[in-house]
Amino acid sequence: MTSNMTNSEPAGTATRELGVGLISVGWMGKLHSRAYQALPSVYPELGLRPRLVHAADTATDRVAYARDALGYERGTTDYRQVLADPEVDVVSICAPNVLHREIGVAAAEAGKHFWIEKPVGREARETAEVAAAARAAGVVTSIGYNYRHAPAVEHVRELVGRGALGRITNVRAVFFSGYAAEPNGALSWRFKRELAGSGALGDLLSHVVDLVSYLLGPIAEVNALTSTVYTQRPILPMGSATHFAVIEDGELGPVENDDYAAALVRFAPTAEGPGAVGTLEASRTIVGPQCGLAFELYGTDGSAVWNFEQMNELRLCLGRGGPHQGYTTVLGNPHLGDYGRFQPGPGIAMGYDDLKVIEAKKFLAAVTGGERRNATIEDAHAVAEVIAAADASAASGTWQAVPSVPGATFGREPASAPGSSHD
Ligand SMILES: NC(=O)c1ccc[n+]([C@@H]2O[C@H](COP(=O)([O-])OP(=O)(O)OC[C@H]3O[C@@H](n4cnc5c(N)ncnc54)[C@H](O)[C@@H]3O)[C@@H](O)[C@H]2O)c1
Repeated sequence: MTSNMTNSEPAGTATRELGVGLISVGWMGKLHSRAYQALPSVYPELGLRPRLVHAADTATDRVAYARDALGYERGTTDYRQVLADPEVDVVSICAPNVLHREIGVAAAEAGKHFWIEKPVGREARETAEVAAAARAAGVVTSIGYNYRHAPAVEHVRELVGRGALGRITNVRAVFFSGYAAEPNGALSWRFKRELAGSGALGDLLSHVVDLVSYLLGPIAEVNALTSTVYTQRPILPMGSATHFAVIEDGELGPVENDDYAAALVRFAPTAEGPGAVGTLEASRTIVGPQCGLAFELYGTDGSAVWNFEQMNELRLCLGRGGPHQGYTTVLGNPHLGDYGRFQPGPGIAMGYDDLKVIEAKKFLAAVTGGERRNATIEDAHAVAEVIAAADASAASGTWQAVPSVPGATFGREPASAPGSSHD
C-alpha cells in the first residue's frame, strides 16, 4: 500500500493508492473492476485511488480483456501470480463457487485483504475454512452481498432499528430469477454440484438470507424443501459465455442441483420479544419475474415492501390508523442510504452497478481503518449455515436448528480492527 500526494488533489488531501488484484474476469470480475474505478469520484473524501494491477483468468481472451479493456497492468492464467504480486494490496475473488475455498484460503495466507463473491464456497464447511484462514491472517474481508446496499434497503433497516414498524412479526422474502427459465438455458457451472454446491438454494436463497438477516438479525431454525424443474440442459464450457446463454441443439448434460427452494424460518428472539417468523423462496426457472429479489416485512405498527426489479421504489405503511392508511410509495432520494452519492435529487434511478460501488467503498474503508460496514466472512458463514440447515431439512423433512456463528453481526455491532480479535 503506497501513500503519496498527487498534484491533482486539493491541497491537504492525501491520496492513498491501493493495488488491486482480480481473480476471474467474468460478470462479477468486470463489475468489481468498474466499482474500483468509480470509487475516487463517488467517494473522494476517502482519499483512495485503486490501481488495477494484476488480473487472472484461465480463459486467455478474458485475461486479454482485463488488460486491454479494463486496464489491468498485468494478466495471467494462474491466480497464484496475482496473490504473489507485491504490488497487489487487495484482491477481488470472482471465481466460480468451487474455487472460493482454495483461493480464499490462499489469499488470506498471502496476507491479502479480499472481497469475495457469495456464497463463499459450495457448503458451510468451505465458508468456515475461509473464515478461519482470514481470522488467522488478520485480513479484512468483504462479501458480494450487494443487495444490502440499496438505499431503500438501508432505509428499511434504519426504520426497523428505531422501531418505526413496531415489533416485526413476519416476513415474506423471495429471489425469483428467470435466468434458467428457458429449458435450453446453458448447463453452466451453476448446475453442477461439484462446481457450485446447491442450486437456487446457494446461488439465490443465500442473497435472501443475507438480506433478511441484515434487516432483522439471525435466523435460528428452518424447515425447507427443494425441487428441480429441468433435469437436463445443453453443456456450456467454462469461461465461454454467461449463465444466461441459450444453446439450441447442444449436447445435453444432467442438472445436479435444485431449481427451486423454499423455507419456513424462525428468527432468533430480540430484546423486543420473540423473533419474527417467515417464508423464504428462490427459483431460477420461474417465468415472469426476472431479477425479483423482494421482501415484505410486517410489524405491529407498519410494514415495508421492496423488490429489486423496482429498486428505486419503496412501499411503506407507517401506523395503523389516520387518514393515510395503507401504502405510500417513496422514490429514491438523497435521504436514503448512499443515494446522494450517485444522484443529486429524488426520483433518478440508480442501478445494480452502483450497489457494487457502495460495496467497494465499504470494503476499502474497512481495509484502510475507516468505518466497518462491510459484510464480513463471518456473515457469509452465518448465511452458509442457514443454507446448509435448509439443505439438510429438505433431505430429512424435519426442522433444523441453525448453529450460530461467533462474530457474525450483519453490521449490528462494530467489528474489531483487522487482526486484533483474531490473535
Ligand atoms: N453478488 C451477486 O449478485 C452475484 C451475481 C453473479 C454471480 N455472483 C457470484 O460471483 C461468482 C462468479 O460468477 P460470475 O457470474 O461472474 O461467473 P462467470 O461464469 O461469468 O465467470 C467466472 C470466470 O471464472 C473463470 N475461471 C474459472 N476457473 C478459473 C481459475 N482456476 N482461475 C481463474 N479464473 C477461473 C472463468 O473462466 C470465468 O471467466 C460466483 O461465485 C457467483 O455466485 C454474484
